[in-house]
Amino acid sequence: MIFKSLKKNIEIEDSTFNMLYSTRIRRLSERHWTPVAIAKAAADYLVDKPNKKVLDIGAGAGKFCLVGAASTKGIFYGVEQRASLTKLSKKIAEKHQVENVEFIHSNITDISFSDYDAFYFYNSFFENIDTSCPIDKNIVPKNELFLSYSNYVRDQLHKTPKNTRLVTYWSTWEEIPESFDLEYSACDGVLNFWKKKS
Ligand SMILES: C[S@@+](CC[C@H](N)C(=O)[O-])C[C@H]1O[C@@H](n2cnc3c(N)ncnc32)[C@H](O)[C@@H]1O
Repeated sequence: MIFKSLKKNIEIEDSTFNMLYSTRIRRLSERHWTPVAIAKAAADYLVDKPNKKVLDIGAGAGKFCLVGAASTKGIFYGVEQRASLTKLSKKIAEKHQVENVEFIHSNITDISFSDYDAFYFYNSFFENIDTSCPIDKNIVPKNELFLSYSNYVRDQLHKTPKNTRLVTYWSTWEEIPESFDLEYSACDGVLNFWKKKS
């Protein structure tokens, strides 16, 4: 029902989408997972042509990728460092036959951005700085990881071709290279739409 509605562009409340998850994962939603309406807006911008390969940098419980895959003609790839979240995302995609999505258990530093066409980033590395609402205890936050992961992403994005699209949500902009132009902003400036200028 949820995925059928998304495919038909019928509005889905966050509380409805989050019923796909256990209570523990649902409780993390407000702080850690992209709201459905934001995911749709971001995915619409990133998939400007069918079959665009979109990488979610830190896919969490798969929410952005699942919404994007169901509501656009793109192919979504979610890279996530927590094995349990990758497993959960895969299970939901399989159960609901969402086919244009793939979840990869990996650290982002092992991923080459040259394999993808467009990118989504929801402040994934901030958990190393703000430890007030941890996802779990399996990843030990380290201040210095915020900068090293951001540097990796900035370097990879800088190497992407002209006109590459990027959407950031609640980002500090640390990971955005100067070669990207801000096209427009929404949600009081926390949702930003970028394009590589050169
Ligand atoms: C704020 S959540 C966003 C989840 C998802 N993109 C969404 O919008 O629903 C960030 C996720 O990034 C993951 N993450 C953080 N650092 C990472 C890294 N270096 N490599 C892969 N995943 C990472 C975290 O485990 C967390 O699940």
